[in-house]
Amino acid sequence: MSGWVAASAPAKVILVGEHFVVKGSRAIAASIGLRVRVKVRPLNSWPARILSLPLNAEARLNREGYLKGSEVFKQVPVILSELRKRGFDLEPFEAFIESEIPPAAGLGSSAATSAALALALTALHGDPLGPEELSKVTYQAEKVVHGKPSGIDNTIVTFGGGVIYRRGEEPLRVDIKLPPGTSLVIAHTGKGRITGEIVALVLENAEALWPAAYLLYEASDKLVDIVLDALSRRDAHLLGRAFNLAHGMVSALGASTIEIDVLVHKARLAGALGAKLTGAGGGGCIIALAEDSKLDRVVEELRLHSPWVRSVEIGVEGAVVEEGKA
Ligand code: MEV
Repeated sequence: MSGWVAASAPAKVILVGEHFVVKGSRAIAASIGLRVRVKVRPLNSWPARILSLPLNAEARLNREGYLKGSEVFKQVPVILSELRKRGFDLEPFEAFIESEIPPAAGLGSSAATSAALALALTALHGDPLGPEELSKVTYQAEKVVHGKPSGIDNTIVTFGGGVIYRRGEEPLRVDIKLPPGTSLVIAHTGKGRITGEIVALVLENAEALWPAAYLLYEASDKLVDIVLDALSRRDAHLLGRAFNLAHGMVSALGASTIEIDVLVHKARLAGALGAKLTGAGGGGCIIALAEDSKLDRVVEELRLHSPWVRSVEIGVEGAVVEEGKA
C-alpha cells in the first residue's frame, strides 16, 4: 500500500524489581518477542483518524489535539504535543494499530503502542526519532496512562534488549540471555488491571509499613545483583529462586491476587524453577523459568488455568521503523 509507513515496538517483562523501582530501587527488564505495529499514512485534512484492531476502538483528533472517540487513545494528544515541541509540524494522518501484546497485562502494551505510534509519525515526517527522544515522548504518554510511571516501560520498549533501571539514572543496557536449556513462559490470568491503581495500593501499603517495608526495597535492590550474577554464571536454579523471592516480596505489598498465585504455584508444581508476577500485578501475567525438559509440562499445566500462555524469546530489538513492510 503506497503512502503508508509502519513502526513496531516490543512488549517487555520485568525480571525483578517491579513496584520497588517506583521508589528508587533497581529493576531488570527485558524486551520480548511480541510486538505492536502501527501503520500511518497522510490524510488531506484534519481530523486525524486512529483505529486499534486489538482494542476494537477508534477516535478522531483535530489539529489542536482534541480527541473524539474512545478513551483508550487518551495518550495520543500528549504524543502529538510532545512531537510538536520537538519541531515536528505534523500533518493530518490515519493510523492503524495491530498488536500481539495483550493489553492491561503488565507486558508494556501501552508504552509499546505509544512508542510505535510516535516513531511511525516521525518516520512519516521523514525524520524518525532516535531512541533517547522516543523514550522521553513515550514517558510523557505513560504518565497519562498510569500516573506515576518509573520510566522502565518506555525505556525497554524503545531500546529493546535488556536494561538495569533506576529511576532518575541513565538506564544501563545489558545483554540478557537466559541460562542455556531454559525458556521463559508467560501466562495471563485473563484479568486486566489498571497499573496506576496497583501502583498506588503498593505505595500506600509500603508507606504505612515504613520503615519495615524499606527493608523490602533494599532486598529487592540486592536481588538485582543476584539475578545479574545468576545470568552471568548461567545458573538457572539461582535465577528461579530469585524469581520466587521477588514474587514473595511484591506480594507482601499487595500486588498479587488469587489468580496470579494459582498460576505461580501451578507453574512451580509442574517443575518450573521459579515463577513470579511480572509488571504491576493485580491481574495481568506471570513469568515462569522452565528447563526445556519440563517446558511442555509447565505450558500444559498453565494452559489448564490460563487463557493465554506463550513461551517467548527475550532481549529482542526495540522500537523500529519497518522499512518496506507497510
Ligand atoms: C509496570 O510495568 C511496572 C511498575 O513497577 C510500575 C512502573 O515501574 O512504572 C509496577
